[in-house]
Amino acid sequence: MDFSINQYEFGQRPAVTIPSPEFLKILTEEGIRKMVSDHYDLLSKSEIKHLFPRIDEQLDKAKQRSSDFFIQICGGHPYFNENRGKPMLAKRHAPFTITSEAREVWLKCYIQILSNLDLQEELLQSFWNYLNVFSFWMVNSKK
Ligand code: HEM
Repeated sequence: MDFSINQYEFGQRPAVTIPSPEFLKILTEEGIRKMVSDHYDLLSKSEIKHLFPRIDEQLDKAKQRSSDFFIQICGGHPYFNENRGKPMLAKRHAPFTITSEAREVWLKCYIQILSNLDLQEELLQSFWNYLNVFSFWMVNSKK
């Protein structure tokens, strides 16, 4: 398993390969929702906790939106499009100050979660590769 974090130049938008649909098939929607929920719980205790909702109700909504997106990008039901419209994720992240250091914290929280999933390595790798590359699109601040 290779959970290395790619480094990019500020402003780069590297080409993204979407995760294998098998990731959703094997993990199931419920598994994706639990993975995302656990990730947010780690973020809420991390050094970038200031970025995320503090109120439980709002945190639950954030978990739902992100899960909807990940289910959709893995070839599942288009919950995100139905509930929120076109993803345009870089734009949706624009109100938050996201540095490349914040991206690393975000990704490291995912490493913790993915390391504990009982899934074939190639499926985890496919999902990780997606996060590793696409997360850089959300970086919008040099400091
Ligand atoms: C593959 C990378 C990422 C994906 C797919 C992703 C996905 C999402 C989605 C779907 C939302 C909800 C947007 C909405 O419905 O309005 C969201 C919100 C948010 N994301 Fe990301 N994100 C990624 C990376 C990051 C990174 C690297 C950070 C910061 C370090 C971040 C911070 C936030 C914040 C602060 C919000 C708003 C609060 C919330 O709804 O959680 N995201 N993200």
